[in-house]
Amino acid sequence: MPPSSTGGAVRLLCVAGARPNFMKVAPLIAELRRDARFAPLLVHTGQHYDENMSGAFFRDLALPEPDFFLGAASGSHARQTADIMQHFEPVLLETRPAAVIVAGDVNSTLACALVAAKLQTPVFHVESGLRSFDRSMPEEINRLLTDAISTLLFVTEESGVRNLQAEGIPASRIHLVGNLMIDSLLRHLDRAKSLRVPERFGVVPGKYGVVTLHRPSNVDQQDSLAEILGALCEISRELPLLFPVHPRTRRQLEQIRLPGGDLRFLEPLGYLEFLGLMAGAAAVFTDSGGIQEETTVLGVPCFTLRENTERPATITHGANVLAGVRRSSILEAWSASRYRATERRIPPLWDGQAAARCRAVIERYFFG
Ligand code: UD1
Repeated sequence: MPPSSTGGAVRLLCVAGARPNFMKVAPLIAELRRDARFAPLLVHTGQHYDENMSGAFFRDLALPEPDFFLGAASGSHARQTADIMQHFEPVLLETRPAAVIVAGDVNSTLACALVAAKLQTPVFHVESGLRSFDRSMPEEINRLLTDAISTLLFVTEESGVRNLQAEGIPASRIHLVGNLMIDSLLRHLDRAKSLRVPERFGVVPGKYGVVTLHRPSNVDQQDSLAEILGALCEISRELPLLFPVHPRTRRQLEQIRLPGGDLRFLEPLGYLEFLGLMAGAAAVFTDSGGIQEETTVLGVPCFTLRENTERPATITHGANVLAGVRRSSILEAWSASRYRATERRIPPLWDGQAAARCRAVIERYFFG
């Protein structure tokens, strides 16, 4: 069998490792599988491994069983990245794919991109070009480095095209295709709503908020987390807040004494449950990148608990505001929201067709 092909089809290794990767990879794999000229294989690095951080997402998104599971270790960035690299290299040597597709900005993304580039295998990066311009964020480092060694760069929003051009990446490699995560959202929204998730958690649609927090800068230090939770407890006296807690955050939470309020802690939710909860919310408070995009499409006001965003289209088009990380700035953003105009637009190409556009670019790359 010639390298890079499976029965004549172009073999592509698609990498997913952490929760935000799964909804980006699922629509692309489904699209590639429909075309017999492509043979996509799925590699799960195991960066996220719990049932509720990984297993539920595979079921909800109808992702195929991974062809390879790398069992990556948690730990420091160096340890995790190195461990994924060491386990990915033999898979690449064994399968000799025509390209490796990586998504987003997690450690798995950079680790596998680096292994592929060193073995002279083209890297295709999904969700390329986003920049917070904050190099204290591990994700910003992962984005910068992955983009620098990628052959095809698939971009979700116009700011990404400008950022990549400013970094000297040739225009011929940059492809504004839209947002694969929104492909997943639009495909699954009706099913998510039919689960009646708010009712199951004892809240009334439109009369509760949702919280997620997991950025190291917000949750690793007790002071920072306590500051944010102080504001959220106050808001929760007006609007009950449901908070599915990320494993990183849970450890710190146990140490903090909370002021009174109606902040309800939940286990992390699967994809459909969380989408159903978000779709019925009056507001979302988050430090996640992806949730800023999902709330933009759902038209749910989003208060981003950060000082910056790498996704400016969610502010210029959507219902996202940067609320900062201080108690006072969060409460100010919350009060000001009552007077904010509510006209919103969905960013260009966030229309559920991003996977088809990616496939068309990949097709041109291999078949001209
Ligand atoms: C990672 C990504 C982040 C992404 C987030 C989504 C990097 C640098 N960060 O952060 O960009 O937004 O995922 O969740 O890649 N853990 C479990 N069970 C799991 C997964 C993790 O208990 O299924 C624990 C780990 O053991 C670790 C901690 O949670 O102690 C953090 O996990 P890690 O993968 O290092 O980073 P995240 O904070 O999840």
